[in-house]
Amino acid sequence: MSVSRRSFLGWGGAAVATAVLAGCGSNWFSAGSGTGSHGALLASRIPLPDPFRVPLPIPPNLEPRDGTIEIAARRSAVEILPGRTTEILGYEGAFPGPTIRARSGEELQVRLQNDSEIDTVLHLHGGKTPAEHDGYPTDLLVPGAERTYVYPLEQRAAPLWYHDHAMDFTGPNVYAGLAGMAIVGSDDEDALGLPTGDRDLPLVIADRSFDDDGAFMYPLADPSRARPGVTMRYHGGVLGDCVLVNGAPWPVLEVDAARYRFRILNASNARRFQLSLDHGVAFTQVGTDLGLLERPVARTSIAMAGAERADVVIDFSGVPVGTRVTMTNTLEHGGPGQVMQFHVVRAAASDDTRVPEVLSTIEELDRAAVDVTRDLHFSLGATGSGHHGRADWTVNGLTFHDGDVFTSRLGTLERWRLSSDVHHPVHAHLLGFQVAAPGGDGLAWKDTIDLLPGSGAEVLVPIEGYTGRYVLHCHNLEHEDMMMMVNFSVVA
Ligand code: C2O
Ligand code: CU
Ligand code: CU
Repeated sequence: MSVSRRSFLGWGGAAVATAVLAGCGSNWFSAGSGTGSHGALLASRIPLPDPFRVPLPIPPNLEPRDGTIEIAARRSAVEILPGRTTEILGYEGAFPGPTIRARSGEELQVRLQNDSEIDTVLHLHGGKTPAEHDGYPTDLLVPGAERTYVYPLEQRAAPLWYHDHAMDFTGPNVYAGLAGMAIVGSDDEDALGLPTGDRDLPLVIADRSFDDDGAFMYPLADPSRARPGVTMRYHGGVLGDCVLVNGAPWPVLEVDAARYRFRILNASNARRFQLSLDHGVAFTQVGTDLGLLERPVARTSIAMAGAERADVVIDFSGVPVGTRVTMTNTLEHGGPGQVMQFHVVRAAASDDTRVPEVLSTIEELDRAAVDVTRDLHFSLGATGSGHHGRADWTVNGLTFHDGDVFTSRLGTLERWRLSSDVHHPVHAHLLGFQVAAPGGDGLAWKDTIDLLPGSGAEVLVPIEGYTGRYVLHCHNLEHEDMMMMVNFSVVA
């Protein structure tokens, strides 16, 4: 803890940020202003590296042995900025943690050892999980303790992820590194012929800011953690100025001139991305948060809020060897506007992969069969009783402490009408949302819906899985920690 303690010191105000920015004038970019994301930019106090120099790290795959995976949450010192050390708190001491590779319909047990000095909770995001194993925010695993989470995985193949979910402190804990992907595969999916092996890679995108000693910087209001929340300026969200992909700043992946499948996750606390490629290369989106689309969709850009996943194929086969294809974030200029680069270094010896016309079947839910309609409004609360005397973030004016906001019955179909004041990526545990596919052709399953300012969305929600108490929250982690999280219960 000693190494990072100072990086967690609260430091307030725009004046400081401006001074620091001026001191780093030799950076190759000027920091963006957070366009398209809700939050405030936290400027690094150390010059950031030039982009597209560091190779993209590939987190190791972790496959269950006898249905079990063992991981430890622990601190470690890693090199993120070339020549500097950053202390992280990650699963297996890595950020992102290892990529869990599990199978649909096969129970997975994850034994988590807490080798850190903070309380943590493990949540499998997108998992259809019994309540006692879902990572309820106050179900804390104290330092030195160990527990086994059981995931039946009675659900479609999908790019899930796992992360800390500790009450009031998910923001700082995930920022410190407690996040990784958990890709659930299936035989049906394997039979499609999509790229596999070292041409099926996770891309975990997350923004971070660095202190002058290379430490991660996070503006906790109270570094002793006696009270939660971030300093006033970051009440809307913490936006970093350095984009990490798989834990490396603006990295480069050397690719063959062939098809690749990328499971893209926006693991940022608050930053939204709108990804696009140059040199005329497009994405073929094959899946969303909760699995494959019905048909592939060609897309020139993909918007992703925190916690959203996009399963895409990128075909480099028509790209001349030597070309550098850059992935940018068109919501921003400068550092946060750059993501990573693909360097096409060799012709493919062979590529027998394909993207079939039909990827999966999604049974369309019948609107006429909706049992319950709920209106859920995500906004800043009316009172000034929250953090810093400001209003808390709320759902229908309520917060975590107000008990169950609603009760749902197993086997029924609900329609949720979601609405928001500012950007809020809305996420429910246990349940999936049926929505129109991106591009509008067919259907998709999602667990996180990106609400734009002053906008709304309507989703169909089958109540399936397990009974018990779950949470519904905004996945802007600063909003979540500052109370935009409510309880709901599922009953038989
Ligand atoms: Cu990504 Cu409540 O979680
Ligand atoms: Cu979740
Ligand atoms: Cu929010």
